[in-house]
Amino acid sequence: RAAMAAERGLAMATCTAPVNIAVIKYWGKRDTDLILPINSSLSVTLHQDQLKTTTTAAASQDFTEDRLWLNGKEADVGHPRVQACLREVRRLARKRRGGGEDTAALSLSYKIHIASENDFPTAAGLASSAAGYACLVSALARLYGVEEELSEVARRGSGSACRSMFGGFVQWQRGERPDGTDSLALQVAPETHWPELRVLVLVVSGEKKPVGSTAGMQTSVETSPLLKHRAEVVVPERLAQMMRHIQDRDFEGFGQLAMRDSNQFHATCLDTFPPIFYLTDLSRHIIALAHRYNAHHGHTKVAYTFDAGPNAVIFALADTVAEFVEVLRRSFPPATNGDQFVRGLPVGSAALSPELVAAVVTEPVPGAVQYILHTKPGPGPQLVDDPSQHLLGADGLP
Ligand code: DP6
Repeated sequence: RAAMAAERGLAMATCTAPVNIAVIKYWGKRDTDLILPINSSLSVTLHQDQLKTTTTAAASQDFTEDRLWLNGKEADVGHPRVQACLREVRRLARKRRGGGEDTAALSLSYKIHIASENDFPTAAGLASSAAGYACLVSALARLYGVEEELSEVARRGSGSACRSMFGGFVQWQRGERPDGTDSLALQVAPETHWPELRVLVLVVSGEKKPVGSTAGMQTSVETSPLLKHRAEVVVPERLAQMMRHIQDRDFEGFGQLAMRDSNQFHATCLDTFPPIFYLTDLSRHIIALAHRYNAHHGHTKVAYTFDAGPNAVIFALADTVAEFVEVLRRSFPPATNGDQFVRGLPVGSAALSPELVAAVVTEPVPGAVQYILHTKPGPGPQLVDDPSQHLLGADGLP
């Protein structure tokens, strides 16, 4: 299990890592360099059968410079966040080797090549930085034979990335220390804990997000009194409640709190000055639709959550998916390729009662949702054993 011996001067490791979606949102840093948050957050890791990043990291004495390729195109390896992850993994490797240069271990001075690919469109705004940095750190850790403290390293790439280092239900604990050593991710429950839970990602048509989360949350920290109140008072209470709902597999409680927390996050964006708008007319349409659907059934059967972009994520139990997907199909009739409208896990067919249609499907918006991805909670980063799956060849190039 030690780092791959660099006998032939080339060592390589490939990992995959998941996307996660927060149900108690992270928004705001108390330290922008170390990426320390103003509040704890909690997320669900999504299954890699539907969404994943794959990353290969290679080191060789023959490489003359560090290089990075993202989705096949060369990118800036000097990016401070990439460099922070690289530096931290190497520091942990050095610590693990106890200072003495282990001859069997890969030399830390070799240059590295990294190639990373998402199996989903980056432009679709699906939390690609979380999966990306979690995968980078996993592959580097494997290359250098490091196993501990990895969520703290992934945090240095992107805050939300630390939560993608575990499967199932994951808390990123805020921590107290100024050096960030206690600001790390912990698994609350594994992906097997709630087998009926399903996730629908509604990929909406249209542009990319206007303000990135890194810049947006900083403006919020500087200007929003609501965000301060949220971090100090609201989130600590909600986090404890959310943990209980997850332990109890209480969808009503889980769903309601997820919706409220998404709404409060977007309220802090409106409370930011100048204000930031991530929700669109379509988001509001989806929100109203979910509430009409729940009202029709008399309890919470679906719950929405939105991050710093226009895509909606819906939580539901397995027995609700077919009916709600049919509601979505009627509400957002696909413009073209109707057969590809629903992707991922299979979805059964459902007939809607006229009462349901009349109460819930009020004003259809054709083509507004590009497609729906049906998935569920899944495991954390995985090692890819099959060498034919490496994203870099024996020459160290993609
Ligand atoms: C709205 O993790 O992308 O998705 O730490 O600056 O990289 P940086 O920000 P990022 O922010 C994610 C914000 C969010 C909520 C969440 O995932 O908790």
